[in-house]
Amino acid sequence: MVRSQNKLIDSFARNAIKLRISITDRCNMRCVYCMPTNNNEWFEQNDILSYDEIVRLANILVRLGIEKIRITGGEPLVRPKLEDLIRKLSHLDGIKSISMTTNGLLLRDKVMQLRDAGLKSINVSLDTFKEDRFKAITGVQGLDNVVSGMYAAEHAGLEVKVNTVIIRGWNDDEIVDFAKFARSTGYTVRFIEFMPLDGSGIWEPNLVVSKRETIQRINEDLKELNPLYNKNSEPATLYSFVDGKGTLGFIPSITEPFCQSCDRMRITPVGILLTCLYENPGYDLKALLRSGKSYDYITTYILECIKKKPEGIISKIRAKELRPTLNLMHRIGG
Ligand code: 5AD
Ligand code: SF4
Repeated sequence: MVRSQNKLIDSFARNAIKLRISITDRCNMRCVYCMPTNNNEWFEQNDILSYDEIVRLANILVRLGIEKIRITGGEPLVRPKLEDLIRKLSHLDGIKSISMTTNGLLLRDKVMQLRDAGLKSINVSLDTFKEDRFKAITGVQGLDNVVSGMYAAEHAGLEVKVNTVIIRGWNDDEIVDFAKFARSTGYTVRFIEFMPLDGSGIWEPNLVVSKRETIQRINEDLKELNPLYNKNSEPATLYSFVDGKGTLGFIPSITEPFCQSCDRMRITPVGILLTCLYENPGYDLKALLRSGKSYDYITTYILECIKKKPEGIISKIRAKELRPTLNLMHRIGG
């Protein structure tokens, strides 16, 4: 059992129980809201944590109370043998679930291996059902691959959620189509407010389509959405329709930031600990690992870091300090 003084509790009394591990900054897409256009700055291969290093850090963090791990990127499936990592992580003592966020392009052929390794659920990013628009948003063609990847994941018994970033003028006319998709497939569709983490610098306040507006637009077409009781401690508030068919989530990262109940922390591909999505530069755990620091030393260091966790984006909103590219999404993984 973890004693309370050895938990990941910060100075605002928030307790981290979820860890997001970004395993690569590379990606086979170039989404406008994430990657800098023509990005040519990648982490060096040697600087990227090996799977063994990731497992060592995860082991320390799980003993400090982390219960759920999400693998993110870049695109996690571009890293070879991802199933090996998932298998090792799912064997950590005390871990409750391993999930992954993916763009879905490579999903279909990998899904059985991932499930057999212990993956339980998957979030697939999808922002449009129109092929030409898909190309404009992601830089590649591949809508069919993504959708068939989702079906394959469902078939394999994974829980499937869809992450949809709505950007005004880009895809807000498809809000209702996404709600219908949730009703016809049974997948939870989560509408995420566009955050200033885009490398391309296009973010501005009027591109954000708020949770409130999104709900309003769905209600105009499809009738009444009702709030659902949220059994998981998720930032998404869940809704369903009056007939009980279809689950929608809303992640109001900008208009109703959930910093006060934040229960997560992040590790970047090069082993930087971020106690907050907007923290910069974070804490270099890889340096400690590679210089041979002991398990206890790293544990104590992490407990010091978490105490300094900033209040979050909520303080930037209060101070009216929001601007594009506060941090780079493809290096953090959301
Ligand atoms: N704002 C909101 N969500 C974003 N994502 C990536 N960049 C942004 C952004 N700027 C989402 C992706 C992906 C998840 C990791 O984060 O859709 O599903
Ligand atoms: Fe790649 Fe995901 Fe970023 Fe899109 S959001 S560029 S799919 S890492």
